[in-house]
Amino acid sequence: MTTTVITGIAELVTNDPARADEGGLLGLLTDAAVVVEGSRIAWVGPAAEAPDADLQVDAGGRAVIPGFVDSHSHLVFAGDRSAEFEARMTGETYTAGGIRTTVARTRAATDEQLTSHVARLVAEMRAQGTTSLEIKSGYGLSVHDEARSLAVAAQFTSETTFLGAHVVPADTTPEDYVALVTGPMLAAAAPHARWIDVFCEDGAFDVDQARAILAAGSDIGLRGRLHANQLTYGGGVQLACELGLAAVDHCTFLADDDVSALAASGTIATLLPGVEFSTRQPYPDARGLLDAGVRVALASDCNPGSCFTSSMALCIALAVREMRLSPAEALHAATAMGAAALDRDDVGVLAPGKAADLVLLDAPSYVHLAYRPGVPLVAGVWQAGRPTVG
Ligand code: NIG
Ligand code: FE
Repeated sequence: MTTTVITGIAELVTNDPARADEGGLLGLLTDAAVVVEGSRIAWVGPAAEAPDADLQVDAGGRAVIPGFVDSHSHLVFAGDRSAEFEARMTGETYTAGGIRTTVARTRAATDEQLTSHVARLVAEMRAQGTTSLEIKSGYGLSVHDEARSLAVAAQFTSETTFLGAHVVPADTTPEDYVALVTGPMLAAAAPHARWIDVFCEDGAFDVDQARAILAAGSDIGLRGRLHANQLTYGGGVQLACELGLAAVDHCTFLADDDVSALAASGTIATLLPGVEFSTRQPYPDARGLLDAGVRVALASDCNPGSCFTSSMALCIALAVREMRLSPAEALHAATAMGAAALDRDDVGVLAPGKAADLVLLDAPSYVHLAYRPGVPLVAGVWQAGRPTVG
């Protein structure tokens, strides 16, 4: 297999816990080199000790980080809701009901239209340094449209999530819809999905409904995750912790009991600061969560309603500026913790045997991700050992 050595790395973020003593949370190395063999990392260490390789790439004194792991997105949709965003910026509040607008447009789109739209958004993410991503359904809300949404998503990632329980469609009752989601819709979706998710919120699904839907998914082999405590306080976070879900996402409105339940569980709190930015909600207390011992990830939640950004760098900048994470904590949350939120340990870390998913920044340090907000800093991306950008 061809080997490539990347030299000239002024600062390398490894996220390797074995390097924490000297390199801190990010396992930082300076004047580093990385050897890539096929799709995997073969060697990481000081440039002066780098082994020979078939090919050499010079990073030119810039920083290299693990590719971002975006563990929460809703890319399978059609239509535009910029008018809703504009109304919010002049005083309207965000409600779950806007989802139905996108459902109508998504149902009317062809498979080809949905696929090419997802392809465009995935390319947009890749160009900004995202090398692993999760994609949810949730804008089909019929057996046929949820199954085809997941089939489209599965063309782009193995981390696909069935979110039939996004909102109750206008033409049915909650009871009938939960029966549909846990019955024929789940059966049609499961072959294309790894995960099951529920929007547990006022105006969407309550805790009992969420529990029943997650249990049905678990029975058929889907791992659970949850949208919870986005718009109001409620029992969603407690449910996620009780069930030992991989992640509970949003966590904007948390009571003290929610924080202690998270700290005592293995469930990751995935914060989505682009949503607070785009809905003018208060930001979640990321600092308080970390200080309480909660494991925190950052993700984009790229979707047409509450947050239409695909930029993990923006999420990092917001987490640093508005949620008081350090730049190191925010980058760790957007890489290694994103991987943990997807139950993955092969991505988000640069160490021998891990996926060769690397991003070359046009900057001497990862700190520039927050220090230079809004500036495109991605100079190159290797996905599974292959250069895909730059
Ligand atoms: O994660 N909260 C629920 N779902 C999406 C928004 C969906 C929409 O408004 O279209 C979210 O914020
Ligand atoms: Fe979401």
